[in-house]
Amino acid sequence: MILTVSLNSAFQKVLVFDEYTEGQVLRAREFHQCASGKGINAARAVKILGGEVACCGFSGGMNGALMKDLLKQETLREELSSTATNTRVCLTVVNLKTNLNTELIEPSGKVSGAEVKKFRSTFTKLLKKTKLVALAGTLPPGCPEDIYAELTAEAAKAGITVCADLCGPALLRTFKGKQKPFLVKMNNHEFKETFGERNIKDVITELLACGVKIFAVTFGKDGLVAASEEGLFLAIPPKLTPANTIGAGDSMLGGFCRAITSGCGLEGILRAGTGAAAASALTMLPAHFTREKAAEYSGKTGVKKI
Ligand SMILES: Nc1ncnc2c1ncn2[C@@H]1O[C@H](COP(=O)(O)OP(=O)(O)OP(=O)(O)O)[C@@H](O)[C@H]1O
Ligand SMILES: [Mg+2]
Repeated sequence: MILTVSLNSAFQKVLVFDEYTEGQVLRAREFHQCASGKGINAARAVKILGGEVACCGFSGGMNGALMKDLLKQETLREELSSTATNTRVCLTVVNLKTNLNTELIEPSGKVSGAEVKKFRSTFTKLLKKTKLVALAGTLPPGCPEDIYAELTAEAAKAGITVCADLCGPALLRTFKGKQKPFLVKMNNHEFKETFGERNIKDVITELLACGVKIFAVTFGKDGLVAASEEGLFLAIPPKLTPANTIGAGDSMLGGFCRAITSGCGLEGILRAGTGAAAASALTMLPAHFTREKAAEYSGKTGVKKI
């Protein structure tokens, strides 16, 4: 089983407007909603791609209950731990006139020490049936900053592959332990936030030398650059008109995880991730694509060794 972790999950709503003018009463043309958060989106992508998956993390209050109900409807296995605080709402406003999407994000409520402890024991229990753990996303207030480092160490010690879509101090702490994540991915803004003005090639060399096996930096529609002991690669997605690219990176993580557990090499991993990401960009909600579309886009992805 693949286990994804979503500590900062969200009840996601998408409102689609023909045009959007501030200060007016605006009636949406379409409305969509789903359970979200990076780990949940990645889990959804894994499921679409035919993998066995569960997501754990936090959910609470009315929004958490709605989110769990939606997950049940889509038969996505969740092992979310309850929090007293209400799960946040993330609202995407889609402006069809300008093709600009705006993301409105509620602040997350604080989780307690006891709630973190409860999550940790669920995680430990689920690890027994897990081949690969995916860690993704920011942390809610109250969650210790070294939690991802601890989860990485615990999973890796049990011989489980860890894939991390993390950045900043939470990621850097995972490098301090003896066991490193197998795969690390982030977008180019997160790269800057984490490594400043450092050259991507230098960071790649350093991370591969310290035990990370695959490192990927994504650049939206321009694809990604990735490295492993097989070399340095570019993966360019096919050209498409996106509906909503939010969640493309999470779908990519799901695609990577599925391909890794299927025993693919770097090219296969990059194709699976890019295909899932591109297919997700076509949909209004994160990771709501079909397996067929992802396969079509995997095939159309340009993978080049550089
Ligand atoms: N407009 C697009 N057309 C085709 N593919 C896209 C587009 N936008 C993103 N992708 C695919 O998704 C991948 C990840 O995109 P991006 O760099 O935006 O990630 P992200 O910022 O992590 O996304 P997320 O919102 O999920 O966090 C890209 O490498 C690319 O393969
Ligand atoms: Mg991302």
